[in-house]
Amino acid sequence: MENTTTHSVKVGELDFPPRKVWLKTYGCQMNYHDTERILSHLSGMNFTRTEEQSEADLVIFNTCAVRDLANQKFYSHLGETKKLKTNPDVDPETGLKKNVIVAAGGCIAQTEGKDLISKYKQLDFAFGTDVVDNIGEMVYRAYAGDRKFAVTSWDKSENYSIETKITNGSPMAFVNIIKGCDKFCSYCIVPFTRGREKSRRLAEVVTDVKRLVEYSGVQEVMLLGQNVNSFGKDNGESLGELIMELDKVQGLQRLRYTTSHPYDVTDDLVEAHRNAKKLANHLHLPVQSGSNTVLQRMLREYTIEHYLTLIQKMRAANPEMIISTDIIAGFPNETEEEHQGTMKLLDDAQFDFIYAYTFSPRKGTKAARMNDVLTDDIRGRRLREIQEKQLKIQANIRSQMIGKTYRVLVEEKGLNKGILKWTGRTSCYRLVHFEPETQEKDYLWHWVDVEITSATALSTQGKIIRDLGKNIQ
Ligand code: SAM
Ligand code: SF4
Ligand code: F3S
Repeated sequence: MENTTTHSVKVGELDFPPRKVWLKTYGCQMNYHDTERILSHLSGMNFTRTEEQSEADLVIFNTCAVRDLANQKFYSHLGETKKLKTNPDVDPETGLKKNVIVAAGGCIAQTEGKDLISKYKQLDFAFGTDVVDNIGEMVYRAYAGDRKFAVTSWDKSENYSIETKITNGSPMAFVNIIKGCDKFCSYCIVPFTRGREKSRRLAEVVTDVKRLVEYSGVQEVMLLGQNVNSFGKDNGESLGELIMELDKVQGLQRLRYTTSHPYDVTDDLVEAHRNAKKLANHLHLPVQSGSNTVLQRMLREYTIEHYLTLIQKMRAANPEMIISTDIIAGFPNETEEEHQGTMKLLDDAQFDFIYAYTFSPRKGTKAARMNDVLTDDIRGRRLREIQEKQLKIQANIRSQMIGKTYRVLVEEKGLNKGILKWTGRTSCYRLVHFEPETQEKDYLWHWVDVEITSATALSTQGKIIRDLGKNIQ
């Protein structure tokens, strides 16, 4: 989104000179995808992204409400923006500007938008998750002089129809296929912040992906939704069907999807893992707990036996498949025995990696109203036990990578103890670091084959075998 123009653009009645926007994104891929959409809309209004908040004309927070820590981080960062507003004028030394506009969007803004506006004097407007594509109108309103408003309405249209926006020139694209969530797991705020489930039509997604591949150089697509397994339910379509159609798109190299709910994994999805050549060897399937009684209290609608059968089926369909998961430690009133169920599950499932968190009560959810006897200490201890056990399992699984060669899409470079290393992801979503053949060589967005030379629970190193360049057919 490089914009070096010095000219203004006319939008409605207003002139928009070149301006800078600073954005901070919290939370999940859906929020990162929404940030891309926001940037894409704003580039049409003459905004360029800046990494320096002090030089921004417009400051936007795209917030997450999933755990209390995410909320606290945002409140603290928003609090700091007060100083942006108190600067007298543009200071040529610091570049700090007067009349900075501060906005907050995303999941916290959806449910707390009006309160945020009245509590934080420096906040000019707030917007919810379903009005991201109206950001242009809201920014226009703010520059027209209207301040202190919150837009948190839901999109009432029957169809969910969008076009994916790309701004960063990467060959990896997030493609939303379903929004919202109807599951109402007892601990989760997402159904309140993202609204009801609504799928795009299969044909629209296929056309969208074809366009991204043909005109934007996209080679890897991550299909997104809070529960992608519900895709197409209302339209007689399914995720398995969509994957098989996308598998035929010429020029697309890799296909991923996230996040799945075990209850909705169907046989046609298992078959897609057997048959689709481009579908990654990775499935992120959040389990949350290894205890059936906790799963019941979480309203997850499956048992551990069902979950284990599912991953067995997936591994039978694709023997290269690796599985990762999410776990909540210390759900309200979790007994020691229930916690041990989760510890046992780690052994039984052999996850490649996990995201584990302590339970965080979210206002408005059923679990937050439960009479809970657990202390923070117990939750913390259980989380550590889960993480320590998983690290041992992970080290063992990862050691089996040594000596094997993986195709990697290179994402970035960096210095590791003074040594230049490039980093990319395998089809199974593991990060691999390797040293370049020469210091000058640029591997960004190249496909490379890397042989793994060492692997620990958290880091995998390799040596480059082959550089296939940016486009492989
Ligand atoms: N849709 C996904 C699913 O069905 O599992 C997960 C979406 S949620 C945004 C990501 C993860 O955050 C969840 O899998 C869960 O482990 C965690 N999470 C959600 N609510 C939480 C809470 N109240 N406390 C702790 N972790 C929570
Ligand atoms: Fe939250 Fe459950 Fe929906 Fe996942 S499926 S977003 S955990 S309510
Ligand atoms: Fe957070 Fe909202 Fe995603 S609560 S995890 S940003 S859907």
